[in-house]
Formats: sequence, C-alpha cells, structure tokens
Amino acid sequence: MRFFLGLIVGLLLFPLGALAYLYYGSIPVAVDDEPFPMEGTIANRGLNARIDREAPKSSPIEASPTNLLLGAQIYRDNCSGCHGYYGQASPFGKHLFPGAPQLWAPHGNGIVGVSDDPVGETFWKVRNGIRLSGMPAFNNLLNDTQMWQVSVLLANADKPLPANVISTVKPGAAPNP
Ligand code: HEC
Repeated sequence: MRFFLGLIVGLLLFPLGALAYLYYGSIPVAVDDEPFPMEGTIANRGLNARIDREAPKSSPIEASPTNLLLGAQIYRDNCSGCHGYYGQASPFGKHLFPGAPQLWAPHGNGIVGVSDDPVGETFWKVRNGIRLSGMPAFNNLLNDTQMWQVSVLLANADKPLPANVISTVKPGAAPNP
C-alpha cells in the first residue's frame, strides 16, 4: 500500500516539478543563456539519425564549372546573410542559437565549412532545414537541381575553385540580373 502511495506521489511530483520549472523557472530562451545540459548532444543525435536514414548517398549532378557558378549565385542570394561570404563572416551568424557555421571559413586539416560532410547530408539540411534553429527549409524556395548545385559547391569549398565562382561569393558581388 505504502509502495503504491509512494509511486503515485512520485509520478505526480515529476510532472508538477516540470510544470513549475516551465512556468516559474528560468528556461533558457535567450541566445546568450546557458544551454540545457546535453542539449547539443540530444539535438545532434536526433538529426544525425534522421540524416543517416534519409540523405541521398551521392549527388545526381557533377561539380562542373556551370553547376559551381550557379551554386555560388544561389549561395550569395540565399545563404551568405547567415553563413558568411568568402573571406568575411556574417555579422549576425554567431548571434543565433545555435550559431550559423561560417561555410567559407577554414577550420583545421584543410577543411572549409562543411567540405568534410557527405554532399547528400548537406542536401538534406538545405532541403529540410533544421528545426528550432535559424536554418530554413529551402524545398519550397529552390528546386532540387538548385539545392544540389549549392550543396556540391559547399562540398568543394576546400578545392581550388574557378575565379568567377570565388568572386560571386565574395562580399559586394553584383546580384543576379
Ligand atoms: C537565417 C539564417 C540562415 C540562412 C539564410 C541559411 N542558414 Fe544554414 N544554418 C543556419 C543555422 C543557424 C545553422 C546551424 C543549425 C544547427 O547547428 O543545428 C545552419 C546550418 C547549416 C548547415 C549545416 C552546417 C554544419 O556544420 O553541419 C548547412 C550545410 C547549411 N546551413 C547550409 C545552408 C545553405 C546552403 C543555405 C542557403 C541555401 C543556408 N544554409 C541558409 C542558418 C541559416
């Protein structure tokens, strides 16, 4: 009898405690707040599991000069605001939570941005976005070819790229006609 009483009280206390925390506690809601314990691990585990299941294994398009240039125009028009230009970080990318990685920034071992990620993983992220982060889903804004073009560009960010591709993702590049 005591055991069951204890169980019921215990079962009630937990949700009541969670509710009290939600209403009167200090849930981290501001960008500069400390993250929840294991917040990053839990979010990344879920995202990686989904990507492992769904991301295409290879790109249907080549890294041709035309695809790279079109990818660069798409990048400049849709992504540079948060993910930065070639040689210049976005001023507000680091003030998002989670922050927007700077996709032209070299970060050790010759990696530039997400050049070490499989291209299908980047395509999945561009297509579907990342919930509860600033990363938008582009599947209603760009067509599949365009999403592949920008993904292929980012997968090759560590390689020598044609001069017109680099100048398109540099700050101050002229917008598309
Ligand atoms: C409004 C800001 C914003 C825009 C615009 C935006 N992103 Fe993002 N993006 C983010 C944020 C924030 C993250 C980090 C999400 C996370 O860590 O969970 C992110 C994550 C990513 C990642 C994963 C990076 C990694 O290290 O795994 C890729 C790839 C990416 N974005 C590509 C793009 C591309 C390509 C575009 C344009 C077509 C774009 N993003 C437009 C905010 C943005």
